[in-house]
Amino acid sequence: MSMGKPLPHDSAPMHVTGAARYIDDIPVPADCLHLAFGLSHVARGVISSMDLTAVRTAPGVVRVITAADLPGVNDISSAAHDEPLLAPGEVHYHGQPIFLVVATSHRLAREAAAKAEVVIDPKPAILTIDDAVAVRSYFEGGPLTWKRGDVDPAMAKADTIIEGKIEIGGQEHFYLEGQISLASPQDNGDMVLATSTQHPTEIQHKVAEALGTPFHAVRVETRRMGGGFGGKESQGNALAIACAVAAHLTGKPCKMRYDRDDDMIITGKRHDFRIAYKAGVDAKGKLVAVEFDQYVRCGWSQDLSLPVADRAMLHADNAYFIPNIRITSHRMKTNTCSATAFRGFGGPQGMVGIERVMDHMAHRLGMDPLEFRQANFYKKSKPQETPYGQPVKGFILPDLVRQLADTANYKTRRDAIRTWNEKSPILKKGIALTPVKFGISFTLTHLNQAGALVNVYADGSVTINHGGTEMGQGLFQKVAQVAAGEFGIDMGRVRITATDTGKVPNTSATAASSGSDLNGMAVKNAVDQIKDRIARFLAVDGVKPKDVLFADGKVTAGNTVLSFEEAAKMAHENRISLSATGFYATPDISWDRTIGKGHPFYYFAHGAAITEVVIDTLTGENKILRVDILHDVGQSLNPAVDVGQIEGGFVQGAGWLTTEELVWDDKGVLRTHAPSTYKIPACSDRPDVFNVALWNGENHVPTIYRSKAVGEPPLMLGISALMALSDAVGACGEAYPNLSAPATPERVYMAAKKVGAKR
Ligand code: MTE
Ligand code: MOS
Repeated sequence: MSMGKPLPHDSAPMHVTGAARYIDDIPVPADCLHLAFGLSHVARGVISSMDLTAVRTAPGVVRVITAADLPGVNDISSAAHDEPLLAPGEVHYHGQPIFLVVATSHRLAREAAAKAEVVIDPKPAILTIDDAVAVRSYFEGGPLTWKRGDVDPAMAKADTIIEGKIEIGGQEHFYLEGQISLASPQDNGDMVLATSTQHPTEIQHKVAEALGTPFHAVRVETRRMGGGFGGKESQGNALAIACAVAAHLTGKPCKMRYDRDDDMIITGKRHDFRIAYKAGVDAKGKLVAVEFDQYVRCGWSQDLSLPVADRAMLHADNAYFIPNIRITSHRMKTNTCSATAFRGFGGPQGMVGIERVMDHMAHRLGMDPLEFRQANFYKKSKPQETPYGQPVKGFILPDLVRQLADTANYKTRRDAIRTWNEKSPILKKGIALTPVKFGISFTLTHLNQAGALVNVYADGSVTINHGGTEMGQGLFQKVAQVAAGEFGIDMGRVRITATDTGKVPNTSATAASSGSDLNGMAVKNAVDQIKDRIARFLAVDGVKPKDVLFADGKVTAGNTVLSFEEAAKMAHENRISLSATGFYATPDISWDRTIGKGHPFYYFAHGAAITEVVIDTLTGENKILRVDILHDVGQSLNPAVDVGQIEGGFVQGAGWLTTEELVWDDKGVLRTHAPSTYKIPACSDRPDVFNVALWNGENHVPTIYRSKAVGEPPLMLGISALMALSDAVGACGEAYPNLSAPATPERVYMAAKKVGAKR
């Protein structure tokens, strides 16, 4: 009864009334201390002297901590052990934390930190992709190449060849709730933390490492985040570890919250890319060979850059069969903040690369870009393999795209736009349809597992807990719907509780869009066990346990009909356990990243978007006029939440490729560190016409109720906005626009001029 219902987000009323508690809303103990970092003011150099006297004597300061004062390991990295909490001697980016101030208030901590006298001898900083390439500043020593077929001979025989490159800017997550953590010391030196994180288990592990304690001495709780978008997969580690270390050293609770500007300066963002490409088609317009060089600006430490760069390579095909392909990934180490996970995790950048190729080649061939795309789709009937050797099964894009193009009148509108443009010398319109095929699963195979804890109380009320975290995406509500649906009870009986490493251990990050796939299944597994126990207990007088029914708030065993409440009470009184842990591991996946071959994804999620834009060639100003989306979520767990994810994903993707521009100066200083200079889409940027429909179909693999992951894929629908702008710019002349991203008004203006706009 609850499954597949468009129920609102469980916290929606609390979100809009301000009643939902975020970590900053939790009342702190009276003796709580507050932290602030002192940051490096140069991008690269050696600390030659550090005079912290004025900091130590500033009002309210309780303690000042440097690298030398740390009790345990000085590291906040996810895996590579290359990222100290406090710089021990050298600094690697502008904004790197050097020391930590512990004070009686947030404000006093920040004011004290500003009083430090730190001298850093600067070294030549490697800031841009060009800088890094010039000195071969690579992670893992050099580039990584994956290939299929033989590109060079195939390219030599191609009928038409294009070559080009596109720059793709990074993106600030701009979660509304900034990074924050609160640590409270307990008996035996144990530590309990409330942290805004997508990965409570990693926080637990890193805090334990920093304190030199076993994992069981640290408990991390996360009720909700005010957005994460990948920016809270690893970037919360620094604050949590700082709080735990300070709490350990002072014996007092400690809280840390970055100021918004600091948050933007310190934490990692989406990786900016340069993609150089060469592509060839035969006389029939079929791709025969494609070559990509993906240059990835990773920043100063590894963080999640290797799997991000891998996923970009894994999406270099998007929806198209490319018989001969070579993808070379250059993971450049630079003196900028360490780029991190961001919705799509490298997939969007890889996909922009191939969509650019499709757009450029169609322009060269004088074809409608949609027809060229359709002609090169993977075949639906006979699964073809991706460049990494995974058969593309359940490929619905040919049908989905046809349906979207029909219902949104793509062809008629495209023709009408051409006619309109001929009569409009200054304003030009553009339209584009781009598809999305996104691989679902963590590429690090062992992460594809989840645990859950379900408790039924003797009054028939239920709590559920699982490893997934809530960041606004509606995961908790979807999983509660699974539990309520399986028990056959009202949603009101199911209480969603905070993610807690003490309840469900060894969890993965809530990431890779896998939250509901993994945790929905783990909760179902736990519910099944409890139902089975109740059913065995009630199955008497020839009734088989499997025939005991849980529906409509009742439990029916033959002629016995009990309310769920009565059944729970009776089971308890007869000493039946009403608590169970559940577990799930994704089947059928395996992968070797060194050679780039295997079956990394359980399945693919699909979608397509048509975006129509208008540009002003005198100023470069532009506007999205209309968007039509058809998106595949399998059998939806909750259509309201899914449509919300699709709308938000599109807007965030379009923002990345149009208005959101990060600017670092030639000293490596981020100049766009507040909403005054960094432009995320506003409500008024939402397209006037915004039609979102769900593709009605089941996942071909047995996921929870045959649903599909929805968190990340819709972000890539935003690529249609970039391609539509390119189409509009193209209307100014004959040449291909070569529009890079973000397509800000400046870039649109310049591109239009270059293509031949008259003024
Ligand atoms: N939606 C909201 N409202 N807030 C977020 O932070 N993060 C996105 C996506 N949708 C995010 C969001 C990212 S990066 C991921 S990986 C998924 O949600 C994670 O949640 P899921 O696995 O439950 O879909
Ligand atoms: Mo999402 S980038 O996988 O947190």
